[in-house]
Amino acid sequence: MSKKRGSFNSNFGAIAAAAGSAIGLGNIWRFPYVAGENGGAAFIFIYLLIIVLIGLPLVMTEFALGRSTHKNVFGTFRTLAPKTKWYLVGFIGIIGSLIILSFYSVIAGWTLAFLEFSIADSFSGVAPQQIAENFKSFINSGIEPILYMSLFLVVTATIVCLGVEKGIERYNKILMPILCLILIILSINSFTLSGIQDGMAFLFKPDFSKIDGSVVLNALGQAFFSMSIGMGCLMTYGSYLRREDNIFRTAGYVALSDLAIAILAGIAIFPAVFTYGIEPGSGPDLVFITLPNIFAQMTGGYIFSIMFFVLLAVAALTSSVSLMEVVVAYICEEFKVKRIITVTIVTLVAIGIGTLCALSQMESSQISIGGKNIFDLLDNFTSSYMLTISGFLIVLYAGWFLSKEKLRSEISINSSFISKYYNIFLFLIRYIAPIAIILVFLSKIGVI
Ligand code: PHE
Repeated sequence: MSKKRGSFNSNFGAIAAAAGSAIGLGNIWRFPYVAGENGGAAFIFIYLLIIVLIGLPLVMTEFALGRSTHKNVFGTFRTLAPKTKWYLVGFIGIIGSLIILSFYSVIAGWTLAFLEFSIADSFSGVAPQQIAENFKSFINSGIEPILYMSLFLVVTATIVCLGVEKGIERYNKILMPILCLILIILSINSFTLSGIQDGMAFLFKPDFSKIDGSVVLNALGQAFFSMSIGMGCLMTYGSYLRREDNIFRTAGYVALSDLAIAILAGIAIFPAVFTYGIEPGSGPDLVFITLPNIFAQMTGGYIFSIMFFVLLAVAALTSSVSLMEVVVAYICEEFKVKRIITVTIVTLVAIGIGTLCALSQMESSQISIGGKNIFDLLDNFTSSYMLTISGFLIVLYAGWFLSKEKLRSEISINSSFISKYYNIFLFLIRYIAPIAIILVFLSKIGVI
């Protein structure tokens, strides 16, 4: 490995960075609602099985491929499978990451704006109808979301520009504990609310009758997005792992914290939703309309709303850093361009695509493709297609094309557990994961 290439300095730093990538908006605004709607504890049980049987092996595989070459996603495939077309998988990751980075930053920009509104105490005493109106006019202003998105991307760029140790590792080591602390405070506060029982019942009451094929497939899609699988983020971070890092343990912590944070987010959010008798919902409305309404009525709402939007912004930031790093590592290494120049170019391109997304969300917008707004289109295209296709190809490559011995020796470094149970791991990535991914994919394109 060349001396100039970055690497994580500690195992905690590596775990914080990869968990930072995984833990994001997907955990906080999507998981709790999807779990509540789809059978509560029954869904969580299925989700857990998916994480153990498919998610964790995939995270380990991405780490192993990255570390075995110490290169960016493109370089990894080029090195492992020279003179073949496998490098195209790297390209899916690079392009997918750039696209996700762009639309993800639009939402992340909203969280910054709402953090500012929280600090300015703009929710208190405002009627629910007005809060919804304010959100709409914010989006429809066009320019405001673009400014906040750009600000968010500049912060992301600054961290990426500082490099692997001084930027990515250092800031994840600071930001991830802050995120956990805020979430724990918010969750504890939930237990003081009168809606705690209803909220917990919504989240956890097991209802196995709700579990059917489509719920399982939904859980799989959610697990992929939430664990940052398929976009090369984990492969790129894997390339910064040290030889002595235990891949199974590192991936295990990442998977566990991703799940724990998603569940904690549910505990932080839903008791409050039920305390104020509001219909639970998911996505933008939950975070940018329902919750501000709650903060407007809640004792201590001022401080809780600030904490909540800091939480969201931090969660989004550590994910966006990983997305940008995939693209930056590729350009820096393959074209020998300086990091600062690469980061500037990538940021400008992301601002460009993000601007189109933000403009296409305005009610008066003319910017659409085939009648759909660009934001939804890109979101759908990446999470339904690119993520699953690339996840499938990665697992296919590692399970069937990479030498078994190479994978085995990489993955079992310092892990007697994996040396012992390697065949189970191999079975999961050869059969279970690819078959499951094909099923999700077919269901997403409506074939089953
Ligand atoms: N995992 C992030 C989230 O839960 C999103 C993400 C997807 C990040 C794919 C990187 C790659 O929000």
